[in-house]
Amino acid sequence: MTVDRQDLRGLVRPNIRDLEPYSCARETVQKGILLDANESPYPLTRRGTLVNRYPDPYQRELRRVLAEHLGVDSGNVLAGSGSDEVLDWIFKVFCDSRQDCVAVAHPTYGMYQVMARIFDVPVFEFELNRNFDFESDRFLRVVPDNVKLLFLCSPNNPTGNLLNRDEIRNVLVNWDRIVVVDEAYLEFSGGESMLHELGEFPNLIVMRTFSKAFGRAGLRLGYVVADSVVIDYFVRVKAPYNLNTMTQIEGVEALSSLEEGGRIKQILNERERVMKGLKRLPGVSAVFPSDANFLLFRALGAEAVCRKLLFEGIVVRNRSSLPGLKSCIRVTIGTPEENTLFLERLRHHLEAQNDE
Ligand SMILES: Cc1ncc(COP(=O)(O)O)c(C=O)c1O
Repeated sequence: MTVDRQDLRGLVRPNIRDLEPYSCARETVQKGILLDANESPYPLTRRGTLVNRYPDPYQRELRRVLAEHLGVDSGNVLAGSGSDEVLDWIFKVFCDSRQDCVAVAHPTYGMYQVMARIFDVPVFEFELNRNFDFESDRFLRVVPDNVKLLFLCSPNNPTGNLLNRDEIRNVLVNWDRIVVVDEAYLEFSGGESMLHELGEFPNLIVMRTFSKAFGRAGLRLGYVVADSVVIDYFVRVKAPYNLNTMTQIEGVEALSSLEEGGRIKQILNERERVMKGLKRLPGVSAVFPSDANFLLFRALGAEAVCRKLLFEGIVVRNRSSLPGLKSCIRVTIGTPEENTLFLERLRHHLEAQNDE
């Protein structure tokens, strides 16, 4: 049942299969007397970067460095304005409105569903089990035939857990459609990326980002790792100059910076401390294990508690409306000072609630 590279083309929307992409300036020639792109000829630099010229549409240097960092070919990676842009390409390449369908393993990151609505693509909602794990055999038994792709998030947002690798492999082996694994939080987990399975499974698409462990959410830089056939289709549908020059340069620099290791370690230490702190609080009935930079916990009166914290300027996410997450709050691990204050104020509100 495994998909081979030939089959990938058949999964692509017919109008995209033979799409001739917009041919843009800077595609081949980047130096010389550049009179082809209606740019300004006058050099303008911002923080050392020339900005009067269009950026490299193929992100050559960034992709080269990223590929080296990941141990893949540069034809297997492409960067977007955040991994949210990658989602846009996935829908554009694979999903015909009102015809194809996508599966989302709930509870999870809300953007998959929002994107599906934008593209008018129905969603098959598949529930993770009680431990928030993905059960591949159950999925394979119930998945309708018109489902074109499955979104899995590992570590999952907002539950925090890595999904079981063998379960993901089992769908890849036994399903002839696309499996997208969003690894936005992988660097916090100590787990191994699914991208190492790419050689075996051309129907696997892995999404990563610079917004979390790399600490660069403001740059808007995410990327996708996939079979080169899939990446070629993404290149065809993306806006020609989707990544500005500065972001491309910053991305290259981020990959050579060593500071992230220390930051990640500090966040993991704090995650442990916040977890212990939460477990000691009255009214907190569960703190779920986390492989990410946030914690999900169940607290009495979650909604009122979130409101009171917000009133004091402490912003956390009430996730109670998601399936299986009644009374659950998601809190991001902040600086040690922020975490201490959060725990103090949370204790105060929970105790006040107990006294009411
Ligand atoms: C699971 C998941 N994927 C992707 C994103 C978005 O990442 P980016 O900032 O790269 O668009 C988020 C953001 O919170 C996320 O939680």
